[in-house]
Amino acid sequence: MSDPKPAPVTTTIAAAGAHVGVDVRVQGWVNNRTDKGKLQFISLRDGTGTMQCVAFEKDVSAEAFEAIRSLTQESAVVLTGALRADARAPGGIELGIAAIEVVSLAEPDYPIQPKEHGTGFLMDQRHLWIRSPRQVAILRIRATIIRAIRGWLDGEGFVGVDTPILTPSACEGTSTLFATDYFGKPAFLAQSGQLYNEANAAALGKVYCFGPTFRAEKSKTRRHLTEFWMVEPEIAFADLEDIMDIEERFVSHIVQTVLAEHRSLLTDVLERDVSALERIVAPFPRLSYDDAVAKLQAGPFPDFPWGEDFGAPHETFLAEQSDRPLFVYHYPTAVKAFYMETVADRPEVCRSVDLLAPEGYGEIIGGGQRTTSVDLLEQRIVEHGLNRDDYLWYLDLRRYGSVPHSGFGLGVERTVAWICNLGHVRETTAFPRMLDTIYP
Ligand code: 4AD
Ligand code: MG
Repeated sequence: MSDPKPAPVTTTIAAAGAHVGVDVRVQGWVNNRTDKGKLQFISLRDGTGTMQCVAFEKDVSAEAFEAIRSLTQESAVVLTGALRADARAPGGIELGIAAIEVVSLAEPDYPIQPKEHGTGFLMDQRHLWIRSPRQVAILRIRATIIRAIRGWLDGEGFVGVDTPILTPSACEGTSTLFATDYFGKPAFLAQSGQLYNEANAAALGKVYCFGPTFRAEKSKTRRHLTEFWMVEPEIAFADLEDIMDIEERFVSHIVQTVLAEHRSLLTDVLERDVSALERIVAPFPRLSYDDAVAKLQAGPFPDFPWGEDFGAPHETFLAEQSDRPLFVYHYPTAVKAFYMETVADRPEVCRSVDLLAPEGYGEIIGGGQRTTSVDLLEQRIVEHGLNRDDYLWYLDLRRYGSVPHSGFGLGVERTVAWICNLGHVRETTAFPRMLDTIYP
């Protein structure tokens, strides 16, 4: 008597390479089916990858062959059979189907066909579009970026402390607030966790918050969402120079982690030039706003006036000078938020810093040193037209143990767009929210 055949090994497609030569069981969805008469080819996807699966009429039951021949795009199946190396198959392995279980037969009119579709159409089909290999690659890389962010900060001794989403006041100015009703009082969705983070830093020293933030951005650009995720480290007893040192190590770690884990997704699926990412290692060049303006004026923007904030074309020009991200510091006080510390003897500029990504991606981090003076803050609150009563608690932070402290916010979606080399932030998150997009 021969030994009974071992039961098939259940595997994901990504892990299947370890099981060549044995019987496996894979579960997934039909990407595509090619009918060659007695031979049926199925491209199966399971979220970890895609695999070529083939059924010969003579190798399976008549009933199974008929089931395979009837499979529509996106039908859900469990396939079992021998896994073999085949140089002609994508990925170098092929499943010889011996048996099939049809979990559900998809309706025949799947909206996304294997052809080019317009972005507007795809955005309306976002719930289905995210199944495509390119979108899967981006979402996987996004998850790795988020893990790298938390891992690095936790490892550096930062304490993760959550900050509220429902707030009574503005952090980044009143023009982009989403208002909601809070039991008869107005409340606003958080634009940033920073102000609460400053309170948390005075309690714990080094903290970060990481959550969704909201801005009623009325502009349609390739880098603005109305809901985006921001990680915000905040450090007591730290100045502007300290946070630049932290930011360059932090961003280098994020990029190098993605390269180490996802080189093939970057090159094969996203067609990203990874040599540009290999160069992202600290230190990053640092340029003052004054020098940046001089560069713009000497270059393609001779009329750029000192005192104005940079737009996307200015950031692109400045960042093009370097193959690593560029720090621009000491912006005009007037273009930045109310809490910025000013430069000693030069109140017209503040101790702020933006980090501009190369390859035209522009600002991915905004941050700076926070003002310690209660009098200056009081004055700023008035100048910025804010309601003092909403900020009494924030003023307390300057009354009781005020210390130099600094922090910054890195936008996840812009970071994903840059690392994945995407033309628009709408592909950086599963369900983007923009001026004209809230469905699905
Ligand atoms: O420069 P911002 O407005 O800075 C702050 O909110 C500070 N309170 C952060 C801090 O110091 N704790 O925003 C920080 C980053 C930007 O550099 C950008 O990456 C991202 O958040 N961001 C957006 N991303 C997508 N869509 C938008 N509308 C964004 N607005 C800002
Ligand atoms: Mg900014």
